[in-house]
Amino acid sequence: MYDGEGQPGRNDECWCGSGRKYKKCHLETDERLQQLYEQGFEVPARGLLKTPADIEGIKKSAAVNIGVLDYVAERIGPGTTTGEIDRWVYDYTVEHGAVPAPLDYEGYPKSVCTSVNEVVCHGIPSDDEVLAEGDIVNVDCSTVLGGYFSDSSRMFCIGEVSPEKQELVRVTRESLDKALEHVKPWGLIGDVGRAVNDFAKEHGYSVVREFGGHGIGLEFHEDPFVSFVAQAKTGMVLVPGLVFTIEPMINLGAQEIDMSDPNGWTVRTKDGSPTAQWEIQLVVTEDGYELLSW
Ligand code: MF3
Ligand code: CO
Repeated sequence: MYDGEGQPGRNDECWCGSGRKYKKCHLETDERLQQLYEQGFEVPARGLLKTPADIEGIKKSAAVNIGVLDYVAERIGPGTTTGEIDRWVYDYTVEHGAVPAPLDYEGYPKSVCTSVNEVVCHGIPSDDEVLAEGDIVNVDCSTVLGGYFSDSSRMFCIGEVSPEKQELVRVTRESLDKALEHVKPWGLIGDVGRAVNDFAKEHGYSVVREFGGHGIGLEFHEDPFVSFVAQAKTGMVLVPGLVFTIEPMINLGAQEIDMSDPNGWTVRTKDGSPTAQWEIQLVVTEDGYELLSW
């Protein structure tokens, strides 16, 4: 078929592991995907589509990931160091039988990313970094459990935060709802990104181009790349079983970023303006989507 893999006979077992006959399972979907491919659409390889067993595994991983962020939410405040957050994440995760996915990922030195104020993403926790009243911070947690990956992030406002920053955090959160309106079978990933972009621009903000969401499940980062500067009516076709993240980075000022930090990780806004990010993980279902991690 379009993805270079074979097609079972109508009465053979479906490739997805459901145990059902192919004609009662993925046959119709596959033929529609084949047609879309022939019409020039970007179509997910069937290997990207998660089986019900995969989804169960991802949900167990996500339960820990959600738990970690809830644990952080209960404790974070003025005086917390980002190094402390890193230890909370590590301890909670391993106590629940899982491993923080960032630790040693491509040489990343800690268990979580903590991105404060003008830090766009990949802030490295440190005992020298004390959160103060008025800061906004993204805590980005990723977990691997039983070989399954989960990934989500939240913003936290430390004490009393300026109305300007509060609004940035709120609008970025709401941009996810705009994105989710486009997540349904046979939708296009470009429409998901475009919805975020339009909403951010309406509020006078800019959207980071260099980073985006991603497929996830059996690996930390899989196809597709989910851009938030995408054009409408472009990109990968959404199909039940596709698991990916939505994680826009939205700047109060200009969209340019600075990646020159000598640590090789920390990304900042070029103009030093505050920036926000929220991340959720979901699976496309027969009638829309189901959130997996938040
Ligand atoms: N959690 C990030 C994401 O959403 C990835 C961080 S990679 C790390 O994709 F190594 F910096 F942790
Ligand atoms: Co992610």
